[in-house]
Amino acid sequence: MALFDLKQLKLKKKKKISTYVKSELLTEDSPFIITEAYKAMRTNLMFMLSEDKKVVAFTSAMENEGKTTTCLNVGIAFAQAGQKILIIDMDMRKPRAHRYFEIPSSPGLSDRLGGFTKELPISKTEYENLYVLPVGTIPPSPPELLMSAAFDKIIEELRGEYDYIFIDTPPIHVVTDIAIIANKIDGVVFVVRENTVSLEIVKQSIDSLERVGAKILGFILNDSIGDSLFTQYKYRRKYRARYGYTYGYSLPHKE
Ligand SMILES: Nc1ncnc2c1ncn2[C@@H]1O[C@H](COP(=O)(O)OP(=O)(O)OP(=O)(O)O)[C@@H](O)[C@H]1O
Ligand SMILES: [Mg+2]
Repeated sequence: MALFDLKQLKLKKKKKISTYVKSELLTEDSPFIITEAYKAMRTNLMFMLSEDKKVVAFTSAMENEGKTTTCLNVGIAFAQAGQKILIIDMDMRKPRAHRYFEIPSSPGLSDRLGGFTKELPISKTEYENLYVLPVGTIPPSPPELLMSAAFDKIIEELRGEYDYIFIDTPPIHVVTDIAIIANKIDGVVFVVRENTVSLEIVKQSIDSLERVGAKILGFILNDSIGDSLFTQYKYRRKYRARYGYTYGYSLPHKE
């Protein structure tokens, strides 16, 4: 499998990161270059996932690398292609999906894991085909909840109902929640934000994921200026100025 060459990542100093806004979600009016970047991620992911493989977590080594933005927008891109998508917010440290979709954070995943609700409190979003399971009441010890057999049961229950399930998770170098579920899902997409994290930390995070049996589907190089898509477009300056976004991405090709 030709994975993204981590040595090519330009890993330098930290950048100031803005706070989230709903306008970061992909819409029909998003600029062509952004839409195309997510469509390309969609195509690559679909290629990586065969029919019965559909549960994918998005993670990164550190905070603020773009896991949530990527997870949600990839979900929207899939939904726009007519796929029935569920986004699960599993980030009990910094849950965000409910804010983007303007729904309550609980009841949600943790309430069902803890046996406080029988139903899975899934909400429809304003996007056709896109559903979200919010985080729920934040428990004192998320790992214990995630370790329970209830998580496996929920995932198995949902597999039959959705074409793809995307899980937003916390950064692995900060909390290890994803390691607990890594072998219960079909793959992990690893987001790396350019210039914000050291190569060593990225490598350690990947090692920890692989040790617990995670299948790393690919890497997304987020907020990349270097040899990003933008260099292919003469409108680069205009778009960067307006949106402050660049997307570099790389998902592996099949062997
Ligand atoms: N490519 C990008 N260009 C500009 N801003 C971005 C980009 N990707 C993410 N951001 C912004 O960076 C911030 C962090 O992004 P996001 O919440 O997706 O990261 P995260 O990895 O989920 O963070 P956390 O670890 O806190 O959950 C957000 O304000 C988001 O809008
Ligand atoms: Mg996040």
